[in-house]
Amino acid sequence: MIRQFKSSDLEAILRIEKKAFPKSPYNWFTFLYYARIYPDNFLVFVHEDKDKGKSLIVGYIIFYPEGHIVSIAVHPAYRRRGIGTELVEAVLNRTSGKVSVEVRTSNEVAKKFYRHLGFSLRTIIPEYYGDEDAVVMISNSS
Ligand SMILES: CC(C)(COP(=O)(O)OP(=O)(O)OC[C@H]1O[C@@H](n2cnc3c(N)ncnc32)[C@H](O)[C@@H]1OP(=O)(O)O)[C@@H](O)C(=O)NCCC(=O)NCCS
Repeated sequence: MIRQFKSSDLEAILRIEKKAFPKSPYNWFTFLYYARIYPDNFLVFVHEDKDKGKSLIVGYIIFYPEGHIVSIAVHPAYRRRGIGTELVEAVLNRTSGKVSVEVRTSNEVAKKFYRHLGFSLRTIIPEYYGDEDAVVMISNSS
């Protein structure tokens, strides 16, 4: 299930963030900033663990209202189950469908992920990350 972020999700989101982006994780302030400024645009994926009878936050996506993805991450133990796809589709459905995102040139998994979703390369921004270029990818309806 996908729903809006609540402040009680923060610890789980920080755990996912550290695993997904160990070199440069967003901190709690950044997440609460986005939740405050764009409450409708910070979505979490809740996995219902029926065996344990509890709900777990296993992914998130933050996007700007015009359809630019700020960040997306799925907990490593829950990857390749279509959760990232559902999160991006939620953004496509909540915007004009014209979605863009910057990806580190070395992030082959993310580039494959977005290509799988029909995104294509728009341009390269040199040194976007300071130490690395970004590829800008856009959805096929852009
Ligand atoms: C990128 C990320 C969000 C994808 O989440 P996910 O839930 O695993 O994605 P999905 O299960 O929806 O994958 C959809 C498709 O993307 C491609 N894909 C996803 N992960 C892949 C991998 N490790 N290797 C190759 N292709 C991959 C596949 O085509 C996959 O379809 P398939 O499983 O049927 O082959 C996740 O890997 C992640 O959190 N990475 C770390 C953070 C990150 O890099 N974020 C993006 C920065 S812009």
